[in-house]
Amino acid sequence: MTSSQPPGGPACGAHPANAPAPAMHPASAPGAGAPHPANAPTLPQRPDDDLRIGVIGLGLRGSLAETAHRPGAGARVTAVADLDPAVRAEAATRFPGAAVTDDHRAILGSADIDAVLVLTPDHTHADLACEALRAGKPVLVEKPLDITVERCDAILRAAYETGTRLYVGHNMRHMPVVRLMRDLITRGDIGEVKTVWVRHFVGHGGDFYFKDWHAERRYTTGLLLQKAAHDLDVLHWLAGGYTRQVQALGDLMVYGAPDADRRAPGEPKAAGWLDDDNWPPRSQRDLNPVIDVEDVSLVNLRLDNGVLAAYQQCHFTPDYWRNYTVIGDAGRLENFGDGPGAVVKVWNARRSGHRPEADAVHPVPDLQDNAFHGGADPLLIDEFLRFARDGGPTDTSPVAARMAVAAGAQATASLRDGGTPRTVPPLDADLAAYFAAHQSRPYRTGPDQPPRTNSLAVLDD
Ligand SMILES: NC(=O)c1ccc[n+]([C@@H]2O[C@H](COP(=O)([O-])OP(=O)(O)OC[C@H]3O[C@@H](n4cnc5c(N)ncnc54)[C@H](O)[C@@H]3O)[C@@H](O)[C@H]2O)c1
Repeated sequence: MTSSQPPGGPACGAHPANAPAPAMHPASAPGAGAPHPANAPTLPQRPDDDLRIGVIGLGLRGSLAETAHRPGAGARVTAVADLDPAVRAEAATRFPGAAVTDDHRAILGSADIDAVLVLTPDHTHADLACEALRAGKPVLVEKPLDITVERCDAILRAAYETGTRLYVGHNMRHMPVVRLMRDLITRGDIGEVKTVWVRHFVGHGGDFYFKDWHAERRYTTGLLLQKAAHDLDVLHWLAGGYTRQVQALGDLMVYGAPDADRRAPGEPKAAGWLDDDNWPPRSQRDLNPVIDVEDVSLVNLRLDNGVLAAYQQCHFTPDYWRNYTVIGDAGRLENFGDGPGAVVKVWNARRSGHRPEADAVHPVPDLQDNAFHGGADPLLIDEFLRFARDGGPTDTSPVAARMAVAAGAQATASLRDGGTPRTVPPLDADLAAYFAAHQSRPYRTGPDQPPRTNSLAVLDD
């Protein structure tokens, strides 16, 4: 990990003042001066013009860059920045003709880049996103937005101050199982939602979360934020509110055992780190040298609309999926499976004992993509490209992303403090209003005047 910003450190810290941005390779992508909104691209106007995408960080989640690379169909990856030389060497093959650099500033400073994907580890998001926003580049930031509330708020504020479009990669809002549950709730099949219970069985937990940076608080805060941000966001979306109060318990029960096999510091991840045969969990080898996050966590949440919710996460289950139960004042729903072949069952017609057949069984639409997200990633990228180009409402929400981090961060603080209740800090009202208006600038002084200030005092719509 060479680009670390410790939690609680200054959010959106800049690189050394006015350091020049290096040129990218090949020379077709000219370097430019220090990132500044003056470099903001004029996005192609014709819908068949590809947006030129710069990618920062091409690790495991490079799959999303591949999803965005659709030459002739709206977008192409034309530049990649990564700190790892092996990744850079691979990038040239994955995206032929793309400029490749070790310094993201070359991308942000280039007038030949229209939009940016930030796919780096969580603790780097605020710095990179703020730089992208200040450079005038519409940016997709992977979830979680960052690892503290303060750093998330810094990103939202940079978007507000610059007027540059910010999008967050909460792809679960595009997962068919989630959209089906939301549609059933929205059309009233279970009445008004009162309580939501989510269980996350993280079957490959030892592989994905305990063999690299995910296992360290300084890069994630904890997995009740890192991993749970997805489900906390969905839980908020299904319940129609945001968490106000949390109380959590958790522990490191399996991967922290004294005899657990860890790599020596500096030793790279071993081949075979991801394998169905890495079972049982206690037989896992080559775990991260430092492990100070929990592998089991349970949290209770009270939302601002009165909904009560629970979320549970375990990293040593044999199976890998999520189970949602949503109970309204006129029925309940539950998903069985969350990928191809899954169903959502609804009980809403009468009282009974256990009735496995339910009153309605809704098959989850079977979409496929390249990264096991039930077809969500192409839809996520479709939405980001449309938003980067035209703006307007989106199903993902930067404010919701911040609220998911806030709930996860406070829950983590609670579980590390004996389960004491914690309150989620509210979002600044100006930021909330700006994002509620879909990041449009509602404060022009006249119909033909450019925005003069970020005061929301003069609303024209
Ligand atoms: N939405 C989802 O479903 C989903 C799934 C997986 C991961 N993620 C998120 O995606 C992000 C990336 O995760 P990952 O698993 O790909 O991580 P990874 O460790 O596999 O890859 C991160 C890459 O970023 C590079 N990098 C780090 N700092 C950089 C910098 N300053 N400039 C350029 N490159 C830099 C690293 O060299 C590495 O290649 C994380 O925030 C993670 O939480 C989201």
